[in-house]
Amino acid sequence: MITAPVPSQRRVMVKASSAKTATPKGGKSIRAAITAVHGYLPPDVLTNAELALMVDTSDAWITERTGIKERHILKGKGLGTSHMGAEAVRGLLEKSGTLPKEVDLLICATTTPDFVFPSTANLISDMVGIRNVGSFDVQAACSGFVYALTIAAQFIENGTARKVVVVGADKMSSIIDYTDRATCVLFGDGAGAVLLEPSKKSHGIHDTLIRADGAGMPHLHQKAGGSRMPPTAETVAKRLHYVHQEGAAVYKFAVARMAEISTELMLRNKLNPGKIDWLVPHQANKRIIEATAERMKLPMDRVMMTIHKYGNTTAATIPLCLWDYETRLKEGDRLLVAAFGGGFTWAGAYVTWAYDGGR
Ligand code: ACO
Repeated sequence: MITAPVPSQRRVMVKASSAKTATPKGGKSIRAAITAVHGYLPPDVLTNAELALMVDTSDAWITERTGIKERHILKGKGLGTSHMGAEAVRGLLEKSGTLPKEVDLLICATTTPDFVFPSTANLISDMVGIRNVGSFDVQAACSGFVYALTIAAQFIENGTARKVVVVGADKMSSIIDYTDRATCVLFGDGAGAVLLEPSKKSHGIHDTLIRADGAGMPHLHQKAGGSRMPPTAETVAKRLHYVHQEGAAVYKFAVARMAEISTELMLRNKLNPGKIDWLVPHQANKRIIEATAERMKLPMDRVMMTIHKYGNTTAATIPLCLWDYETRLKEGDRLLVAAFGGGFTWAGAYVTWAYDGGR
């Protein structure tokens, strides 16, 4: 269980959970490497101009305040987050030459599961033919993918799994109020997936950090639909099933925590800005990304950016970034991943890329 410990306890807890090269009995240490990445974006695109016809906003405001120009929206009756996750995983298995029966575990990070239960990971596994192995969801809002990556890496490091699929997928359009201009311009739908395997060389996931502070709940949450306020005609009428966000509070938190976790990862791994090839930031707002890069003293040409075309796809932003930039990545490139989200949660990873270019 992740609690919100006092700083000194937190440091101890983090150290204990971040030995990234475990040594299994009698064997040499294993590092988990990302050996393939794939993504899926639904074909329908919602532009700023179209949003300006729905709410009192403009392309100029959205572009200037967020950097977003358009986002993809999943349409089609009966299609949920699992549809996009399954598309991403199918492509991942195909491009990496992996058979469904070879996968040992599938973890899905999502805030918009198809159902309260069963898990979206269970559904995706079924849809792509992965059977009789474990699958479960991780809920840490926009930090979910890094949380899931952290968990997945440990299965590889301790030798209990050799192929783990980690999916980040969200159908944010299912919980967005398209009459609320403060939130509806920000989010999009999408999914990304990575394959983790034992590293053949020394590249892979060197370090991760996961953090949470539940006191952030009032600033970013969905009021109704859970056990505290189950759905009723009244909750629907009051539009309580949508994302509630206090933008300015989230913005302040995001800038501080993204920079803090990136700096901590650099210190722990004896890195400096000159040694980072790519910052892979959660894509919530271009201004948050630029502020993070500035605090880290990283030029923007080493920062992955997809927000202009996908918006904030919550748990999918980071794998979608990796997919988008895959052809530009080279073996050995040093990546610093940083995310934040509802909870509040925040998380980061130091990764060296395991292969050249795209497949
Ligand atoms: N179009 C036009 N005007 C708008 C819009 C819009 N779409 N949205 C808000 N405004 C108005 C507000 O009503 C306000 O008007 P007022 O001054 O008359 O009251 C004005 O713009 C300024 O509002 P702010 O909220 O101060 O605008 P800000 O510059 O902070 O930008 C934004 C708002 C983009 C939401 C910003 O605060 C932000 O990005 N916050 C972080 C959001 C975020 O990162 N969310 C991540 C979620 S992660 C997860 O886990 C889901």
